[in-house]
Amino acid sequence: MTEENRQIRLELKGIHKSFERGTVNENHVLKGIDLTLYDGDFVTVIGGNGAGKSTLMNTISGQYTPDEGSIKINYEDVTQLPTNKRAKLVSYVFQDTRMGTASRLSIEENMALANRRGLSRGLTKGVKDADRDEMREQLKKLDLGLEDRLTAEVQFLSGGQRQALTLLMATLRRPQVLLLDEHTAALDPKTSEMVLQLTDKIVRDEQLTALMITHNMKDALTLGNRLIMLHQGKIVIDVSGEEKDNLTVEKLINLFKQEAGEELTNDAMLLS
Ligand SMILES: Nc1ncnc2c1ncn2[C@@H]1O[C@H](COP(=O)(O)OP(=O)(O)O)[C@@H](O)[C@H]1O
Ligand SMILES: [Mg+2]
Repeated sequence: MTEENRQIRLELKGIHKSFERGTVNENHVLKGIDLTLYDGDFVTVIGGNGAGKSTLMNTISGQYTPDEGSIKINYEDVTQLPTNKRAKLVSYVFQDTRMGTASRLSIEENMALANRRGLSRGLTKGVKDADRDEMREQLKKLDLGLEDRLTAEVQFLSGGQRQALTLLMATLRRPQVLLLDEHTAALDPKTSEMVLQLTDKIVRDEQLTALMITHNMKDALTLGNRLIMLHQGKIVIDVSGEEKDNLTVEKLINLFKQEAGEELTNDAMLLS
């Protein structure tokens, strides 16, 4: 499908964000970000340590308010909308596998909470029998046997199982935008690969619109239909479709040199 007839899910215009504004320590982190994501875009995000990747996501989720610029989700201006009001629009999965779930609650209690995300009433953790069948069906998709452990406390799951559950929970109530901030970086390589495959499956099956930060070049090149690179608070590379499919690390390095006017050292990319 061409971009013209796809719905716009996320639109950032002229986003600027500084920390410690007006002090000697002022740090201008995002320097004019323009980014439009169309329905079903699965975008991998790369960039060196401190490039502003996490700040960009935090600005989309509402954790940080931009100093300048506007953010629209589904054509609605959310620039001033607080994080809790954005929760039903935006889901966020972090690197820390403990952040997306409540340790002392069971799998089913966590899932019940995820199902009520963004709803103001009924913040009880009770689970109805009728919900359990549905939960088992959802958990089967993970292929980790968690459907037989509904009442197990989440603290007893492995990091990979827990992150897979977090991912499922983050997508149960179809978010308009899914944000993944190095969500497999804390896992061992094999488990990371499992969670990445699961991510790919969920994003494609549900046709979600997603931004995934990774410091793994191979993952950034393999996954998604579009790749952006942040450098010193600006998007310096934005490739999609066939151009992305044909991209190699070498081409990326050349592209960076062409766009940013400097050499890309592997360290700057990989030590994030
Ligand atoms: N809450 C904050 N307060 C002050 N400075 C911050 C805050 N969050 C991020 N920064 C600064 O913004 C810059 C970009 O950070 P970040 O967005 O986390 O980079 P990345 O995710 O690309 O590694 C860094 O210099 C970092 O120190
Ligand atoms: Mg980061």
